[in-house]
Amino acid sequence: MTMDTFVFVANVSDLTPGSMKTVIISGGKSLALANVDGEFFAIDDTCTHEQCSLGTEGALDGSVVICGCHGANFDVTTGKVLALPAPTDVASYEVKIENGQVFVKL
Ligand code: FES
Repeated sequence: MTMDTFVFVANVSDLTPGSMKTVIISGGKSLALANVDGEFFAIDDTCTHEQCSLGTEGALDGSVVICGCHGANFDVTTGKVLALPAPTDVASYEVKIENGQVFVKL
């Protein structure tokens, strides 16, 4: 049996609805954390096209992340590519909220 590991990434108050940011977690891994109408989602921060930071350089439109470099679109709820030029999906991670804190399952 494997233990699920949830790590703290941010406070709920750090992100207003409609906003997104890059969070660095242990091991130097970066995630893009998004608040979509009060619901939080986490995907890998690195665009699969030319490795731009989605959370820092990208924009959030509803549940769609638009890469700031060349305009690839990802669904922040699943990590799936919705528009080129990104060739592959990014990973998405389960998120839970407890006591006003956001945790991501790795
Ligand atoms: S690096 Fe994201 S679209 Fe090019």
